[in-house]
Amino acid sequence: MLTQKIAQFSKADFAAEVRAGLTTTGQKELPSKYLYDEVGSALFEVISVLPEYGLTRADERLLRHHAESIVRRVPSPALVAELGSGSGKKTGWILEPLSRRQRTTYFPIEISPTALAQCEKELRHLDCVSIVGYERPYLDGLLAVAARRRHDEHLLVLFLGSTIGNFDRPAGEEFLKEVRRILCPGDALLLGTDLVKPVPQLIVAYDDPTGVTAAFNLNLLARINRELDADFDLSRFRHTVRYDEVERRIEMHLRSTCDQTVRVRKAGFTVKLAKDETIWTESSHKYSSDEVIHMARRIGFCCDAQWVDLEWPFAQSLLIAG
Ligand code: AVJ
Repeated sequence: MLTQKIAQFSKADFAAEVRAGLTTTGQKELPSKYLYDEVGSALFEVISVLPEYGLTRADERLLRHHAESIVRRVPSPALVAELGSGSGKKTGWILEPLSRRQRTTYFPIEISPTALAQCEKELRHLDCVSIVGYERPYLDGLLAVAARRRHDEHLLVLFLGSTIGNFDRPAGEEFLKEVRRILCPGDALLLGTDLVKPVPQLIVAYDDPTGVTAAFNLNLLARINRELDADFDLSRFRHTVRYDEVERRIEMHLRSTCDQTVRVRKAGFTVKLAKDETIWTESSHKYSSDEVIHMARRIGFCCDAQWVDLEWPFAQSLLIAG
């Protein structure tokens, strides 16, 4: 077993993106990828076991039940790259049957060092799997992995947990197009998407009564305080969730409860917030299973198979590059 980490430091990017998102004239925004520092990653692990939030369990259930048939459809031999490794728990279901077929190298690509470390710990016990973690943005990491492949090796890219839902639809499609450009014909992409479901069920999944999701959201401000020496007063913000029927997405915001001014010293700016103004921190787009099939075709993949969980509507789609 081999565990190796290839890191890329990005504190300056964080400062620049926070500044851009908060000094814009319209709707203030913060990129959702920054929700996952050590505290945020731990809070997300709690969210994933909340009874109201069925997404992670559905994702894992599908992989657990269908791992053998998924792996059977993946070309051999294959390197495995995962965009956003998370805790690594779900990935084990795929790596296990795959590594029975062939020695497997697994490349988790993740900007959160905490999630990367957790994933490596979780999967260390798999004997025939070598783990090489890339602490980088997704496409940078995927390019690096593609550069390491031998001519006879295929790539299996895992993009699980409905992380695609964090992009708005056009950006998500553009992102998958970039992924397709890095792949060769016959390579595979396993894509997890959360499906449209009744609005009240979605609202309570993102605004749970115990307040874990609220803490997860507010932690983004706490992180900016810690890392960029800002002075957000968390008691002056409220977690709010809305569903946009047209865009078919859940939006998470932080609403300012009063007029206030906040300094973000290490990013060199101050920001004024009016009472009831919000900072948009995350979108979670919900798909239909057909929509995924059509999108796949538009961007140069063919949907080889799809598995849908009925308890919590969620789809795994195995897309093969054409
Ligand atoms: C990990 C991005 C899939 O959008 O459902 C959970 C993150 N945010 N609760 C999602 C999240 C609030 C989650 N993803």
